Amino acid sequence: MKHLLALEHLNGDEITALIDLSEELKKNRRDPDRRVLAGQVWGLIFSKSSTRTRVSFEVGIRELGGEVMFLSERQMQLGRGEPIKDTARVLGRLLDGAVIRTYAQRDIEEFAELGDIPTINALTDTEHPCQILADLFTMREKLGGWAGKRVCFLGDVDCNVAWSWIWAAERLGFELILSGPEQFAPKAEWMKKLTSSKVTVEPDAQRAVAGCHVLYTDVWVSMGKEEESAHRIDLMQPYQVNAELLSLADPKAIVMHCLPAYREKEITEEVLEAHADTIFQEAENRLHAQKAVLFTIATSQGGG
Ligand code: CP
Ligand code: NVA
Repeated sequence: MKHLLALEHLNGDEITALIDLSEELKKNRRDPDRRVLAGQVWGLIFSKSSTRTRVSFEVGIRELGGEVMFLSERQMQLGRGEPIKDTARVLGRLLDGAVIRTYAQRDIEEFAELGDIPTINALTDTEHPCQILADLFTMREKLGGWAGKRVCFLGDVDCNVAWSWIWAAERLGFELILSGPEQFAPKAEWMKKLTSSKVTVEPDAQRAVAGCHVLYTDVWVSMGKEEESAHRIDLMQPYQVNAELLSLADPKAIVMHCLPAYREKEITEEVLEAHADTIFQEAENRLHAQKAVLFTIATSQGGG
């Protein structure tokens, strides 16, 4: 593996191997034999806000022996209109790897191609692969695995986090039910790319959560969609993860949230606090999952 640009690009075995490695790295967090990034300098190039992704990557790169610099788009010439293709060709000669949070998926693909250094997607409008690797790891820790499990994603079912979940279900073969307003249904053109029948859409939230083992939600207004806030909040109300909806799921269901959370919007304070153990474990697992990605890239012999 040279890059991680999308979960769509991985197969089930590759995803499982990354989760296995996350588990091992969590058990041996400061193992000196794992400092595979020693002598390397990585750049974090972010065009959107971040707490978890930024800090977990900075800590993870350092724990693997590398050095890291944070580059905010606003403080780069990129923010004044310098094209990605030029930025990539400069940084590709200076850095050993790049972790990029931006808007268009095409931009990280272009960076990876022209920069020709390992490039990791730290969230685009299309996918958030590192988040879902951490989520899958947490799901396995909490439920023992994903085989035979039903996951319900509620709210903005066409967002980056939802799409990485869709690819996870497609690749790993667990059931994923997407429940959100029809106006924000997953893009039909992308849904056509799915070959398994494991991903379904059920706009009725009460029907969607019935018997589910995981209820997952994300913000209703993703970064870059702020102009649509009022419309989204209005339409997504029926998909709030609250005690009533949760009572219809499997009695042992866990609740997951990638964070940041907006209480009383996509999730109630009551449900979030009752499931804080899972939700903050998910946040911690960002570190271990991303170290698994970095480790795999650093130790791979070429490949795609
Ligand atoms: N979940 C997540 O990616 O959080 P940040 O936006 O804080 O990085
Ligand atoms: N869908 C959210 C995820 C935040 C981590 C966003 O893109 O803002």
